[in-house]
Amino acid sequence: MRDRINEIYVKSMLEECCIHEDKSRLVTLKSKGKAIDISLVIKSLRNDQVILIQNVEPDEADSIMLSIAEKFELSESLEVQSGFVSNLEHRNNVGRYFMSVNKRKDYQFISSHSEGDSFIKIQLASFYCFENSTDGGASILMNVNQQSDVWAGLREKVRRGKSNRTLTPSEISQIKIMVQLNMPEDTLKESDEILSQNTVVPGFTVFEVLTSLRKTHCKVLDKKLYVYWDSISSIDHDSALEYYDFLKKCKLLKLNPNNLDIRTLDNASARRLGNFGSKYDQLFKCKITHKMQPGDFIIQNNLSWTHSASNWTPGSGTRNIVGSFA
Ligand SMILES: [Fe+2]
Repeated sequence: MRDRINEIYVKSMLEECCIHEDKSRLVTLKSKGKAIDISLVIKSLRNDQVILIQNVEPDEADSIMLSIAEKFELSESLEVQSGFVSNLEHRNNVGRYFMSVNKRKDYQFISSHSEGDSFIKIQLASFYCFENSTDGGASILMNVNQQSDVWAGLREKVRRGKSNRTLTPSEISQIKIMVQLNMPEDTLKESDEILSQNTVVPGFTVFEVLTSLRKTHCKVLDKKLYVYWDSISSIDHDSALEYYDFLKKCKLLKLNPNNLDIRTLDNASARRLGNFGSKYDQLFKCKITHKMQPGDFIIQNNLSWTHSASNWTPGSGTRNIVGSFA
């Protein structure tokens, strides 16, 4: 019954949409009372599919996430990501490895992105649903098109460093921990557009820059990929415009009758810096639309698939979905 409701919900909203819905990329498993076959989850991830496991208990979601992370030698990354949450103002730990997702104001959507940036290189993203009783709040996962011409024009907001002397090995380690820079790979390039700069160690300056994209090695698929990182998507005004248009065409957009300004709908509005040319129909090959239900656990390759969430009418219900990353 629950599957049927979701099917009708998705089907009614997918006509006219510019990105092909491909349910063959979603592998659905049911947990209830029996252990999940982790090897099947791994195989599906290696086939670049997304896995939905239904009827999962919260503590079971933690242990499934750990088992999958271990298979890809990502258990340390899983610990680091969940441990890091206590330093963040906008997120809270939930269970062992999960965290609350970004808070959003009324009517706000979360446009398509892969979690994190090219420095942290998060490989796996998973989501667990406690409640999703709103009239929207669908998760839309998009599969990245590596062949797109759009990548050349996009920019990532990153840190770069420049030293006027040779750094000692201990200074290089310090810089990595303190300001998250891998020296000398992250040395400022002539083509980088400087946004701000700050001298943190005598003779060493850290810059916030816009830089052209570089590929990231994907542990799941064992190849280098372009990734639509949050640090790329959330600085591009075009990404918000594209997502708005996408939701509208898919009939997933809820509008505030008192305020039709797109900036109030866009959760990342304050972080956007310019128009860099995000084009969803060229960046993505296909998508999976799924309105998560209580007990649903989704796991995906964070590099080859983005995630996003449609908005909902305030007061229509509660959306309590948590994420875990490794
Ligand atoms: Fe996210």
